[in-house]
Amino acid sequence: MIPESFKQDLLNRVDIVDLVSRYVQLKKGGANYQGLCPFHTEKTPSFTVSPTKQFYHCFGCAAHGNAIGFLMSYSSLGYVEAMKELASTVGMQLPDWRPDSPEQAAKKEHETDLYEMMVRASDFFRAQLKNAPRAIEYLKGRGLTGEIAARFRIGYAPDDWQGLRAVFPKYEDPALVDCGLVIENETKRYDRFRDRVMFPILNARGAVIGFGGRVLGEGEPKYLNSPETPLFEKGHEVYGLVQAREAVRSAGRVLVVEGYMDVVALAQFGIGYAVATLGTATTPIHVSKLQRLADEIVFCFDGDAAGRRAAWRALEVSLPLAQDHKPIRFLFLPADDDPDSFVRREGREAFERALRGAQTLSAFLLAELRAQSDLATAEGRSKFLAEAKPHLHKISAPALRLQIVKEVAEFARVQQDEAERLMDLRPASSYPRSAPARSAPPLTGSQERNLLRCVVANPTLAAELDAALFDAQQPETEILHLFASWSVEGTLPSQALLAERFLGGRHEAIMAEAQAAALEHELSEDDAVRIFRQIQLALRIQRKNEEVEAVRRQVESDPRSRDLQVELRRHTAELAQLKGQRL
Ligand code: CTP
Ligand code: MN
Repeated sequence: MIPESFKQDLLNRVDIVDLVSRYVQLKKGGANYQGLCPFHTEKTPSFTVSPTKQFYHCFGCAAHGNAIGFLMSYSSLGYVEAMKELASTVGMQLPDWRPDSPEQAAKKEHETDLYEMMVRASDFFRAQLKNAPRAIEYLKGRGLTGEIAARFRIGYAPDDWQGLRAVFPKYEDPALVDCGLVIENETKRYDRFRDRVMFPILNARGAVIGFGGRVLGEGEPKYLNSPETPLFEKGHEVYGLVQAREAVRSAGRVLVVEGYMDVVALAQFGIGYAVATLGTATTPIHVSKLQRLADEIVFCFDGDAAGRRAAWRALEVSLPLAQDHKPIRFLFLPADDDPDSFVRREGREAFERALRGAQTLSAFLLAELRAQSDLATAEGRSKFLAEAKPHLHKISAPALRLQIVKEVAEFARVQQDEAERLMDLRPASSYPRSAPARSAPPLTGSQERNLLRCVVANPTLAAELDAALFDAQQPETEILHLFASWSVEGTLPSQALLAERFLGGRHEAIMAEAQAAALEHELSEDDAVRIFRQIQLALRIQRKNEEVEAVRRQVESDPRSRDLQVELRRHTAELAQLKGQRL
């Protein structure tokens, strides 16, 4: 058996939203994310993923599970394979859980941990920097302090075709090619990075997954990056995330720039909340990842034509993902500047001032659209409407869309409803409601069922379960007892683990129902506490009522018993006390 602790640890490190986003385009709505279900055909999204509960549920086909279950279903993997796959994405290795056959053992010996290789290479490059005066001079010349170089673990790849041999005596290992450090052709093998300043790229968990290498001074290509490897997918990652995380949190903002040096230079000047895309255009995965990190995203592009093109692309990607309460803005620097040069010349305050003046997504969109048409003519205004149409269709944030429609109408000199008709947009009051906006049906069913839904939404409530209250006839009762005992033993599984704990067993359907309901009602942990306590109180009152009634009947049949009188008074007082409780 794979130890439960490992599974728990794994599920703690994996983010199911991250995982599912690799395969399904998800959109945030309320507390959860929705997308088109990959397990059945549908046109409107009913596939829901909960970032807090770490499981998914499809309201269309009832597919359901945690990150492991998702990978099993999506990639048709076995349980252990799925765990292995998942573990590798977060740099964990499955513990040995049964003796290997000799072939397996041989295979394993052959299988090198790519993550371990990347760390070893990164340490090597850092050590090399100390003995490379040219590289140190170069970095100093660009104004970097040793402190900031250390913070970004900047290194140097020596000018040597097989420099990595120093730390990888088994230079022939195919894994070195797999992780992108070594290039192999028919005749020879050699280091990909030579005589370059090395910027290690870390994933969100801090594992080294790739490198960017810059030539010292002039030379082509200026930057050389790791290829896509099993560890590294460029469209998913940003540079500097780990170093930026704290600053992003406290600023409530993440700044997206284009270059490694931009991130590093900004950090040195006290602007720690910058990250860079990795020589690729902005992807939806970038945007949704960053939205989870901060309320505000500011894209910062160079002021030149290439910068504007990149910004436009980021805008197009952002339109469907923009949320009414999470603004996206665009900062254009003066032509010939990048954040690195700007902040060095003008300083932190000037940069932050520029940042405050960054253009909103709507202003940028409208400015570009207006620039494309001559609004002084009827033809130009019609063209303007036609060109605005596809963009407005992409916006799903209702308030934002409404605001932009109003502005478009004004520029086109038409009424709002005319603009909506011309662009085939429904009037604001009847926007199609996406899955998250659907109002949750009232919690129905037995009290036990609702308690279970609450416990699923917030497993710490298991500690408050009062097992004596539950009706043994209810199918949920047995599971509630289980939770109570787990809580006492201290073996309460996380929500993600819960999603699979009951799979295949006789409680599966009940648990699936409870988890689906927790999602559908967007039961937050706090809601769950409130509802849970109300239900238990109601049950206590109900049980106490029954006791009072039972004693009253006894008193009727034996009116002279003082003991019974006393007992009745005690129960009645307790009932009154319960009824007086305010939650
Ligand atoms: N880039 C790349 N490959 C290149 C050139 C650029 O991957 N051949 C990526 C790198 O991530 C780089 C970013 O695009 O950081 C921006 O490139 P550029 O503006 O050319 O460089 P700067 O970041 O300004 O680099 P420097 O200041 O070091 O000249
Ligand atoms: Mn630059």
